[in-house]
Parts: sequence; structure tokens; C-alpha cells
Amino acid sequence: MARIIAGVASSHVPAIGAAIDNHRTEEPYWQRVFSGFEESKEWMAKVKPDVVIGVYNDHASAFSVEIVPTFALGCAAEFPPADEGWGPRPVPVVKGHPQLAAHIAQSVILDEFDLTIVNKMEVDHGLTVPMNLMFGSPKEWPCPVIPLAVNVVLYPPPTGHRCFALGRAIRKAVESYPEDLRVVIFGTGGMSHQISGPRAGLINSKFDKAFLDNLTKDPAKLMRMPHVEYMREAGAEGVEMVMWLVMRGALDDKIDEVYRFYTVPASNTAVGHIILENRPKGARRAGAAKRLAPPKAKAKAPARRAAARAKVDRVRT
Ligand code: DHB
Ligand code: FE
Repeated sequence: MARIIAGVASSHVPAIGAAIDNHRTEEPYWQRVFSGFEESKEWMAKVKPDVVIGVYNDHASAFSVEIVPTFALGCAAEFPPADEGWGPRPVPVVKGHPQLAAHIAQSVILDEFDLTIVNKMEVDHGLTVPMNLMFGSPKEWPCPVIPLAVNVVLYPPPTGHRCFALGRAIRKAVESYPEDLRVVIFGTGGMSHQISGPRAGLINSKFDKAFLDNLTKDPAKLMRMPHVEYMREAGAEGVEMVMWLVMRGALDDKIDEVYRFYTVPASNTAVGHIILENRPKGARRAGAAKRLAPPKAKAKAPARRAAARAKVDRVRT
């Protein structure tokens, strides 16, 4: 039986992708951001999932405003990179998992949760930036990734409650897949940011940190949050955070938060990141966290100094 073993949430700021693609990751500004993902990459290399389900939003790269599906599941064998602004990123083609994707589509749709099946799609920074942050920049991505695009660009996006329910339906689908696959689910986007209008540049660290706390401990509170509250408190693009609730819904109620990172800013955005693990069946809390917790990151001395200077919160939990 396949099983979702962990969830990862991460901002997907396009300028992070541009920093990688233009070899600027060692600059102090960017080092502050990338240093927060060193432990995450070690965690990922240790966990080695068989498949990732990447919940992200398309930014008018694959879908123009002509057709905007609320939930679009990528069922193709591969997804070429695309992007707005800087052009397609020079990253490997994302290989899908058509069998598991078709199974998820069948299970979720027959469960009366309609989503759009997409057999041809390009994927933008919303998906590929978090993949870089978690996998680094390999020649080929280390595992298949099933993209799940959520509309958070054109009003109305789905509610947090609906996103969480989709996560639950995905978990059920994965658990009814006969092959023994270890699946990690990503939720991307956020945290607080607004990229246009009079409030451009808005960042609300208090809101972001409470969101991270509730994601772990009280997701039901987040499910009830209306879109207008995201927009008021976290900026117009802060509403991307509803996608994190798909990831959370796919996990068990009681999970272990094993890593958290928060820094301000990257481009216009507060960068937030969290790793949540399902407890292995029958395991006690401390054991579960210890089992997969990564060793302390060996950041280079200049990186450590840069991180200390900047506004960074990094927590091993
Ligand atoms: C920015 C952040 C995003 O999440 C996005 O999709 C586009 C731009 C930014 O910070 O500039
Ligand atoms: Fe975005």
C-alpha cells in the first residue's frame, strides 16, 4: 500500500529561482534564504520519497485567463518547465507518475471531488522553485512528481476548508494504491506578500508565524479563515497559503513538526518553510521525530555569519 509519510510547505518566490539560475546563491542576501533549506535538503536525501505530489499554483504560464481550473491534476508522463517574466527556467523536465496520478483522479473524482485531469501541461516557478529548495539542482529530479495546480490567481479561489478536504481525499486515494510507495506532499506559495497596488511589499510576520503554528497544531482554525482575512492580513498574494491546507489535509491529525524556517524578505515575500512528518503507525512522538530528524547543518562560516546578521528564524522542533 502507498502511504503519505510527510508534508513540506515552502514559499515559491520566482526570484529564488532566478538567483539559482544566475548563480547568485552565495550572495549574502540569497545565502540568508538558502541557508534555511540546507537541513531540508539533508532531510529529503535521507527520506528519499518514491513520489512527490506537488500542490502549487500556476501563474498564467500553463493556463491563461481563458481557462482557469480550480484543481488541475497533472496526469502526464512529463511536464516541461515554463515561466513568466524570466522565461522557462533551465531546470530538468519534471517526470510525472501517470499510474498513481490516474489512480488519484479516479479515487478522488468517484469520491465526488471533481478535479480537472490535465494530460499536457508546463510547470512554472510555483512548482520548480520548491523542488530546487528541497532537492538542490540535480541533472535529473530524483523522483517522479505529480503536479496539482490550484487556482489562487483568479477570484474565487477554493476555500481553505475545501483545500483541506481535497488533501483528505488524496490521502485516501494514495492509501488505496496497491504498490508500496512512500509519498511526500508539498504545499507551496505564501507567505505574506502583495506584489502590486498601494499595499505592495506588505509583510506580516506575526500572521505568518501564527499560521505556521496553527498548521501544525490547529489546522481546523485555518480551514475557517475566509479569503478576505488572508488578503487583509497577508496581502493579496498571501492567499496562496490556502494551498498549504491541501498538504496538511493529506497528513494525519497528529503529526510531528521536524523543521521550520522563516526569513524576511526574498523579493517581495516573507519566506516560510515547514516539514511535518506523519508518525509511523504505532510509534511514540519522540521516537518518530528522532527517526528522521536530520543532523545539524554544516553551514559554511560566512553563511552562518550572514544568517546571524539577517532576520532569520530557524527552528528544529
Ligand atoms: C513574488 C512571489 C510569488 O509567490 C509570486 O508568485 C510572484 C512574485 C515576489 O515576491 O515577487
Ligand atoms: Fe506565487
